[in-house]
Amino acid sequence: MKLLVTGAGGMLGQTLSPYLARRGHDVAAFGKEELDITDGDLVQRVVAEQRPDLIVHCAAYTQVDQAETEQEMAFAINERGTENVAVAASKLNIPMLFVSTDYVFDGSRNEPYKTDDPTGPISVYGKSKLAGELAVQRHCQNYYIVRTSWLYGPYGRNFVDTIYKLAQERDQIKVVADQVGSPTSTATLSEMIADLIASGRYGIYHATDEGVTSWFDFAREIVKDLEAKGKKVEVVPIETKDMPRPAPRPAYSALDKSDLVKALGRPLTPWQEALHQYMQTQSVKAPA
Ligand SMILES: NC(=O)c1ccc[n+]([C@@H]2O[C@H](COP(=O)([O-])OP(=O)(O)OC[C@H]3O[C@@H](n4cnc5c(N)ncnc54)[C@H](OP(=O)(O)O)[C@@H]3O)[C@@H](O)[C@H]2O)c1
Repeated sequence: MKLLVTGAGGMLGQTLSPYLARRGHDVAAFGKEELDITDGDLVQRVVAEQRPDLIVHCAAYTQVDQAETEQEMAFAINERGTENVAVAASKLNIPMLFVSTDYVFDGSRNEPYKTDDPTGPISVYGKSKLAGELAVQRHCQNYYIVRTSWLYGPYGRNFVDTIYKLAQERDQIKVVADQVGSPTSTATLSEMIADLIASGRYGIYHATDEGVTSWFDFAREIVKDLEAKGKKVEVVPIETKDMPRPAPRPAYSALDKSDLVKALGRPLTPWQEALHQYMQTQSVKAPA
């Protein structure tokens, strides 16, 4: 297939675009500089020139805390920018895959959210991404909405690298233990997205690595590697209220992925396995 990827310079886009090419697709990868999604005319022109079989829309405003004070920009990119892509796609009857987030849920439950459970974002970022989902549903006949969570990968800042670095520098690190969700590697998400595209089964999907954990237990798994090399570090559980941040996060955001498992016809990778694969290939992070 010919695929047009937006946000190709981001954390997911930089892993996903070459992966889709390795899977045999003809990938036209557009970063922000080449395709600013807030420019509706430009989006229409590029989509009309490229005539892809599918648009994979990864471009987004992703500064969760900053969004609380940059509401206008978050909505300009995540809602209206996404709407520009959806309108351009629908004009030429091109299907679209929109990457969304677990933050569309409020996190008040204690069992995994199903794809059709009521949404209720509690942050500006979550609200702007939900508005993007609705724009896609409004304009496109054929779409995939892929909600993922707690992403990390080789490109861009992420929790895994931050914890690993802190653990090398300090004897103790404090991590919140009362937020629960599913870490997801950009490598395994890229596989899920490629397999979903191959399935041709449009719809709303939840796509994360398998298993549920807290940021605290996630951090403990990350430092295991260092401990095995003799570096002692104590990971101390704290509560969200002890580490106030501008944007509220869902306390519980595990996602029910049964629809995806059915569509792909295969099990998903456990988060610990994906994490260790990532850490093994990121040799730059090994302590000196
Ligand atoms: N990271 C996570 O934990 C996480 C969790 C759940 C869902 N997601 C979703 O996954 C997708 C990929 O996220 P990511 O982690 O790869 O984020 P990211 O690294 O911030 O990538 C997003 C990319 O979009 C670009 N962008 C921003 N404004 C744009 C515009 N007006 N036009 C075109 N491109 C623009 C960004 O460029 P600049 O950086 O130069 O602004 C960046 O390269 C997003 O839809 C995000 O909402 C992420």
